Formats: sequence, C-alpha cells, structure tokens
Amino acid sequence: MKENKVRWGILGCGKIARKFAEDLSLSSSGYLVSCASRSLSRAEDFARNYSAEKAYHDYPSLVSDPDVDVIYVATPHSMHYENTLLCLENGKHVLVEKPAAVYAGQFEIMSKLASHRGCLLMEAMWTAFLPVIATVKEWTEKGKIGQIRHMDADFGFTSHFDPESRLYDPNLAGGSLLDIGIYPLFMAIHLLGKPQKIQSAVSYAKSGVDDECTVLLSYEGGATASTYSSLKVHSDTKCEIYGTKGKITIPGRFHEQDHFFITNENGESTRVDCGKTGRGYFHEAEHVNNLILNNLTESNILPHRLTKTLLEVMDEVRKQNNIRYPFEKEE
Ligand SMILES: NC(=O)c1ccc[n+]([C@@H]2O[C@H](COP(=O)([O-])OP(=O)(O)OC[C@H]3O[C@@H](n4cnc5c(N)ncnc54)[C@H](OP(=O)(O)O)[C@@H]3O)[C@@H](O)[C@H]2O)c1
Repeated sequence: MKENKVRWGILGCGKIARKFAEDLSLSSSGYLVSCASRSLSRAEDFARNYSAEKAYHDYPSLVSDPDVDVIYVATPHSMHYENTLLCLENGKHVLVEKPAAVYAGQFEIMSKLASHRGCLLMEAMWTAFLPVIATVKEWTEKGKIGQIRHMDADFGFTSHFDPESRLYDPNLAGGSLLDIGIYPLFMAIHLLGKPQKIQSAVSYAKSGVDDECTVLLSYEGGATASTYSSLKVHSDTKCEIYGTKGKITIPGRFHEQDHFFITNENGESTRVDCGKTGRGYFHEAEHVNNLILNNLTESNILPHRLTKTLLEVMDEVRKQNNIRYPFEKEE
C-alpha cells in the first residue's frame, strides 16, 4: 500500500480487463500500477491506455512486482486456478474473474492457500456489489416481500458458433453455464442459500459444451429457483423474486442494473433507483480496496463459502449432463 491506497496489477489484458481498468480509475482508494500480457506490445498498449506505470511480457514478472498489492485475474476460465495459485504463492491478494475456478475442488485448494499465505481471495462476481443487488438483498432479508417462495432469472444472448472462442472451446471451459448461467445461479444462492436438490437440462453446441442450460433448485421449506442461460437466444436477462407479500423485479439486464421495481400485495408497483458508478465494476474494486485497507482476507458479502456453493451447483449440473472438460482429472 502507498499513502493508504491499494496498488493493483492486472493479469491478462483482454476485454473485461479493459472495462475493469476504466472503473478502477474512478476509485480514490486504489489505482493501477502494473499489467501483464503474454504479449509485451499488448501489455504496453494497455498500460498506456489505463495509466499503468509498468507493463510485463509475462505473468510471473507481474506477481514478483513488489509495488503490487492485489492482482485482478482476467483470463479465460480454465486459467483461473493456475493464475490465482501463482499470485497467492507470491503473496499477492487476488480478485479472480468468475467463475473463480472450473470446479469446487480447485477452489478449495485456492482458498486453503489464500488463508495459509494470509491473502485476500475473492471471486469477481461484481453483481453482488451493485447498489441494486445490495438493496434487494437487504430488503428481502427485512421481509419487505414476505418470505421468498420463488426466484426466476435468466441470461441469454445470441452468439456466433466458433469452436476456438472462449465461449465454445471446451479447453477454455466454455459453455453458457459457466460463462453466464453463473449470474442467475449466483442470485439464487445469494438470496436463498445452498439448495437441497438440483435438477437440470442442457442443449449442446457442436464442440460439446452447453449452449443452453436450465436449472431448477429446490430448498428446504419448499422454495424454488429456476435459472436459464443461453448462447442461442437473446433473453430478457431479468430477475423476478416472488414473496408471500409481494414481488421484486430487476429488469434486464439484471446483473448490471441500476434500478428495480417492488410490487406490494395490492399489485401497486414502485420503481426504486439505486444508481451505480461507472459500468458497475467500480463497486467490487472499492470493496476489495476496503477489505485490504482493513487487513481482511475474506469478503463478508461474497465469502468463500458462497463461491464454493456456486461451483458445487455447477459441478452437479455438469455431472447430470455429462459435461466434462478435457483437462479435468478422472476421479
Ligand atoms: N465481470 C464481467 O462482466 C465479465 C464479462 C466478460 C467476461 N468475464 C470473465 O472474464 C474472464 C475473461 O473474459 P474476457 O472476455 O475478457 O476474455 P478474453 O478477452 O477472450 O481473454 C482474456 C485474456 O486472457 C488471456 N489469456 C491467457 N491465457 C489464454 C488462453 N489460453 N487463451 C486466450 N486468452 C488467454 C489473454 O490475455 P493476454 O494475451 O493479454 O495475456 C486474453 O486477452 C472470463 O473469466 C469471463 O467469464 C467477466
């Protein structure tokens, strides 16, 4: 830390890294110091665009930089485990893109290493930190719509099939479930907790990954949640939460939304504006800065327990539908 500000490094200079770096520049509690790419020219371009002092041509150089406190891992899914371990072994705090790992067993190892090294580890499930989601979580906990009985959320867009793209390549742990289905599942687990029963159905792309995935989660006491993700159709990408005394609707696209609607028992609906800063990544960056400045190694909003449950649910969905990535070890 320098002058009570958290110093960031970015590992992998791709699409999401650019958006995150833009929002990080809005923070007054942290700033970008270094970035690393497998290509030096890409790292240099990135450093120039987002005012980083240093650009590295490989990831090991970044994790050895003594001026970096925390590293944002922004690589494809299949790389998260290896990249995060590299950071933690070098004593860096880590914010790792979603999904934090490909399967729960990987995350357990990451989590153990983080606590052994006294480092912060958090999944970059940025939606959790948006003012809309924080308010919805608080209001449902206070019982503003009574007891939640059902949640229904989706995330879908049309995409061109390219077997070598991050979305479709099994070697990069592609598929709709891990890429976007994770958002509606996160909402269900954030609001309702760990499910008792998981049922699912998928359709398969030619590369073998799922291009559509529907999940039904059942909870003790009878509440349910249904989620849908798709790389084939443009869906509303909204989230409806039905309670015994009303309903909350987060309109599309719910995972980046700045307002929602609450409907009471008489059917009267009110719009609630919560706002957001930048594209919304600002809020997760600020949360990480605050944790580090307060010497905390785990988020109270997105604890390791939640990330692990999310991965366990996705593991079970993949098991039910025989989706196994080529690099997964035989058990
Ligand atoms: N939070 C969000 O809103 C959001 C949105 C989109 C994606 N994501 C997540 O962010 C992560 C990255 O997604 P993205 O869309 O930014 O991906 P991307 O642009 O395709 O790739 C990210 C970067 O990963 C690095 N990389 C390392 N090993 C690689 C390999 N074997 N193949 C390809 N790239 C490799 C590359 O960086 P260098 O060549 O510079 O090293 C690449 O530019 C994923 O986990 C994704 O789920 C999050």
